[in-house]
Amino acid sequence: MAERTLIIIKPDGIQRLLAGRIISRLEERGFKLVAAKFTHISEELAKKLYKVHSDKPFLKGLVKFISSSPSLVMVWEADGIIEIVRKMMGATFGCEAEAGTIRGDLSCGKRYNLIHGSDSPESARYEISVFFGPDEIVDYELTNAHWIYGVND
Ligand code: RTP
Ligand code: MG
Repeated sequence: MAERTLIIIKPDGIQRLLAGRIISRLEERGFKLVAAKFTHISEELAKKLYKVHSDKPFLKGLVKFISSSPSLVMVWEADGIIEIVRKMMGATFGCEAEAGTIRGDLSCGKRYNLIHGSDSPESARYEISVFFGPDEIVDYELTNAHWIYGVND
């Protein structure tokens, strides 16, 4: 099975009506959508998602931001997707993100940086389990997969 990652279009992405543009970039790259949930993330779930940052000074503000308005939580699949998405997202703060990245093209602030993406296979497994049960992830074939990955011949 190809690698999976958790991608969240954060409250600023939804409020700024950028969800479609961000999803287009993921589709254009050839990734496969396998789960999606439009939801207002509770403070409790936000703390669980960002457990790795539980001792950071910015946790309180981060949790407040993530739970301030609805988000689109998704699982996407492709070979090597975790690293590719991290490159597509750009540096954490929009004001520092490279042009050509999602954050670098569509944001210019700090915490309000539009998108979350898992940063390792372990984080991806954990983060996906915070939002989705195994039966909520849809198994299907992308009919154009050969044209994305090529064929071994
Ligand atoms: P994410 O987890 O959301 O994909 O972002 P990331 O890996 O690029 O950044 P990370 O270090 O994991 O930080 C998680 C989120 O916390 C907010 N943040 N605020 N110093 C600060 O005020 C600060 N540092 C991080 C950002 O919203 C960041 O995406
Ligand atoms: Mg992170």
